[in-house]
Amino acid sequence: MRSFFITLVSILIIISQSVYAFEYLQPLPDKPIFPDNNLQTEEKITLGKQLYFDPRLSLKGDVSCNTCHNLAAGGDDDGAVFNMADRKIKRSAPSLWNVAYLSTYFWDARAESLEVQALEHLFDPKIMDMGSSAFLESRLKSIPGYVIAFSKAFPNEKITTENIAMALSAFERTLIAHDSRYDQYIKGNKSALNEKEKRGLNLFKNKGCLGCHFGVNFAGPAPGPALKMGDAFYELMPTIRGSNYESKYNFLDDQGVYHHTLDEEHRLFWRVPPLRNIADTAPYFHNGAVKNLHEAVRVMDRVQFNYGVNEQEVDDIVSFLKTLTGIYPPMTLPRLPETEGATLIN
Ligand code: HEC
Ligand code: HEC
Repeated sequence: MRSFFITLVSILIIISQSVYAFEYLQPLPDKPIFPDNNLQTEEKITLGKQLYFDPRLSLKGDVSCNTCHNLAAGGDDDGAVFNMADRKIKRSAPSLWNVAYLSTYFWDARAESLEVQALEHLFDPKIMDMGSSAFLESRLKSIPGYVIAFSKAFPNEKITTENIAMALSAFERTLIAHDSRYDQYIKGNKSALNEKEKRGLNLFKNKGCLGCHFGVNFAGPAPGPALKMGDAFYELMPTIRGSNYESKYNFLDDQGVYHHTLDEEHRLFWRVPPLRNIADTAPYFHNGAVKNLHEAVRVMDRVQFNYGVNEQEVDDIVSFLKTLTGIYPPMTLPRLPETEGATLIN
């Protein structure tokens, strides 16, 4: 992973040079950037959707992707992964809505693309636990419907682990919630936000939140000229040490980016997370320790600046954040190919 992290001061300098990628407020583009090596096709997306909802992609058939990233809701887990005692997952499952607009994946930015992310998950003992490529491929090969679906999505190729990751990623790139009230506002409809929400937007700007949460996804520059796909945009959290929140919410237990780069300077650095649809993705932060959005805003103010926002200001900022919820596209459940008269899960 190439790393890319800049201090708040340097961000402000770059912004003042008004490089488009670093513009504070941007609407969600109609489409994300599709990687050349995995272009979208109907067949791939259809297959990816089946795989996404299919529990047979996990060793014991106990979870599908949708179990922890529930697309009937915010695309996250509502804190449920912490209750899966046998899995002992210490991080919250992020939302997959608008995930195509990000340049890196995971809270600590360790995956450079959706494809790489999926490959890790498929074999992670705490997630899908499929053991080996050979095992995963043989399971899908034994389901006749998948043999057909793969041959349509990847003509002249076999069922491979890479193709599974590509199909999943193609489907994930369709998960876009457009046209939030904020988007309407930024595109020129000044009455799309009410006075309270506009006050919240101004506070979000003036209190410095935009210094890190800016751009199309409020997660820093979107993939493009400034931030190539795979480049990480991450920041220190907590920046100001010693607050009560630090111990209350165990913010020092997990050292973030450091765990995979092993670079001392990366301790407590985290990818700046997107804030679109944030009202629908409680609990908050990498460890899901904060249960509601008001508290998340108080925490951010305290641990990143210590300006001391008052409750009225917190409430205004939350009102603004709620305008970032897009319109979720209607979704139908896919039919999953059956293995007639038998089960694959023992
Ligand atoms: C048992 C729960 C669980 C299941 C099942 C699961 N995930 Fe995840 N997923 C997580 C957690 C937890 C994270 C965050 C881990 C981290 O950042 O270290 C995550 C992260 C992700 C991310 C990164 C999102 C971002 O904003 O960076 C993507 C993409 C993703 N999962 C896709 C999938 C797909 C595709 C499947 C099915 C193959 C799946 N997940 C199945 C729990 C789950
Ligand atoms: C110095 C950079 C920086 C600034 C400034 C900043 N944030 Fe954050 N924000 C982060 C990082 C990094 C995280 C992820 C930390 C974690 O999960 O451990 C985060 C997480 C969040 C979350 C939780 C996201 C989620 O999916 O759980 C919210 C909400 C949030 N910030 C809002 C704000 C608000 C509101 C402000 C202004 C008061 C602000 N942030 C200022 C870097 C920043």
